Amino acid sequence: MINLTINGKEVSVEPGTTILQAAQQMNIKIPSLCYNKDLPAWASCGICVIKNVDPRTGRARMARACCTECTPGMNIVTNDLELTKARRTVLELILANHPDDCLKCNRSGQCELQNLAAEFGLRSNRFTKIIREQPTDASYAPIVFDRKKCISCGRCVETCQMMQNVWALEYTGRGDKTVIGPVAGADLAHSPCIRCGQCAAHCPTGAITTHTPVEEVFAKVADPELTPVVSIAPSVRAALGEEFGMPVGTITTGKIYTALRMIGFKYIFDTNFAADLTIMEEGTELVHRLTTKGSVLPMFTSCCPGWVDYAEKNYHDLLPNLSTAKSPQQMQGAITKTYWAEQVKVAPDKIFHLSIMPCTAKAYEAIRNEDMRSSGAQDIDMVLTTREFASLIRQAGIDFASLEDSEADSPIGPYSGAGTIFGATGGVMEAAVRTAYKLVTGKELGNVEYTPVRGLDGVKKAEVDLNGTKVKLAVIHQMGNVDAVVQEIRKAAAEGKERPYDFIEVMACKGGCVTGGGQPYGHCDELREKRAAALYKDDENHEIRCSHQNPLITKIYKEYFDEPNSKKAHHLLHTHYTPRDIYSNK
Ligand code: SF4
Ligand code: SF4
Ligand code: SF4
Ligand code: FES
Repeated sequence: MINLTINGKEVSVEPGTTILQAAQQMNIKIPSLCYNKDLPAWASCGICVIKNVDPRTGRARMARACCTECTPGMNIVTNDLELTKARRTVLELILANHPDDCLKCNRSGQCELQNLAAEFGLRSNRFTKIIREQPTDASYAPIVFDRKKCISCGRCVETCQMMQNVWALEYTGRGDKTVIGPVAGADLAHSPCIRCGQCAAHCPTGAITTHTPVEEVFAKVADPELTPVVSIAPSVRAALGEEFGMPVGTITTGKIYTALRMIGFKYIFDTNFAADLTIMEEGTELVHRLTTKGSVLPMFTSCCPGWVDYAEKNYHDLLPNLSTAKSPQQMQGAITKTYWAEQVKVAPDKIFHLSIMPCTAKAYEAIRNEDMRSSGAQDIDMVLTTREFASLIRQAGIDFASLEDSEADSPIGPYSGAGTIFGATGGVMEAAVRTAYKLVTGKELGNVEYTPVRGLDGVKKAEVDLNGTKVKLAVIHQMGNVDAVVQEIRKAAAEGKERPYDFIEVMACKGGCVTGGGQPYGHCDELREKRAAALYKDDENHEIRCSHQNPLITKIYKEYFDEPNSKKAHHLLHTHYTPRDIYSNK
């Protein structure tokens, strides 16, 4: 351990702890801006300046707390008049190059720069305002990059390159002409971007955000020609409450249903139901591949559009390995405008289906190819992220925290515990294991909790015994962790060795959808763990915990699809993938 003093108090910390982290352990606040817990310290802003005082001479040296590691005997001062002045100067310099757009900024009220300016009581600026005119890049909806608001903190570049291994963003230009933007000065539409939204989630300002015209929802639900229906994704229920001051990890499913009814939706469905359907289709496909000679293995999950986009651009040889099952969002869209529409006798093009997702890539998924119009109309009409949904609730004047719970509508709302854990990394795999075990052995798993695939290790490996057949599993989250596994698979194939895995779950975002690009801000492991724990609790609270046990799933097969992977199921619930160029996206 390393012993040091901060503000006169002694503290012991692990080697490698920075001064910022040590102070946080003592509940001492040091302001930070370019630093983010998910990323290595880039130390570009200077707001976290502290004093390191030599105990013998009393001489103080200023250092940046986010990137300076604690050393034995350090004597740190985190706050005095001089430090406050230095920090104010940093802020004034940043704000001198930042537009005063707060009233209409997407991040207003949730902007780290705005918060700091408020905390420091900045009411004037000694420096001349110079805004570098640069165009806004809205070429790749829903990601919007307003370059004028960029403070060059570097968080988005670190996120896109180091966390996601996508390399859509970089520093371009030299010296004071250096700017942050898509590679080679292109726009986002001509970059390798997979619209995961993690740059937006990690940007401290309104420079990279996502934009969907939220207010259009009100016009759609008020349109007498349309039947407005809505579905919510698994992880939305574990995060939305934070937007309304509720503790992290509060499950708000019942309040969400109530709020949606108050907004005017006629039917409230739940994407968790389609997650159960996904397991039936994907699980059956897996068992078929495992038991049919010559099948393409390992099979990869396909419910994450960030991953699908990445594979279409980067792993053309592996596209036959992706499950053909559509994602829960797209299955929910397809069954709403076919199975359910036929029951209520409404034409597919007269249904407005809103999908509420943790994900910024889902809007793209809804129009990815012609399979997303399997009902004859667009299966999902509009996608809002969790953050945008919170805005919709506020705009509707609803006091969310005080709402009573209500239920989703049958027959495509009620879900099993397996459906809800889709929102956390490993959840799809765990849900699939519960059902694959039944499909192969004819028996139910004694203990349905398959814990080897839970948690935040970047690549989790496990083996499950299905009636004597050992099935090798891998669970990957965060795009940057995928390539090592892909190279391992390719190497084994090239050397004629046994394939290392049979079934692989991939989620583009760290932790899975619980901290997807559209979830409430503050992305870090603590949030991931608490939101995932909430989903596991939601699973525990369900009497039915396996997708194949959901009676409404049995009903839809009996009444409509006949059996999983049937011809009709293939037409409505499956898709195909197309190799595309990384830069032109074609
Ligand atoms: S876009 Fe945002 S995260 Fe990226 S450098 Fe600019 S301010 Fe930082
Ligand atoms: S959305 Fe994802 S892939 Fe695209 S620039 Fe941002 S971090 Fe990179
Ligand atoms: S992990 Fe979830 S939130 Fe992230 S891109 Fe995939 S589906 Fe979207
Ligand atoms: S937070 Fe430390 S330099 Fe920016």
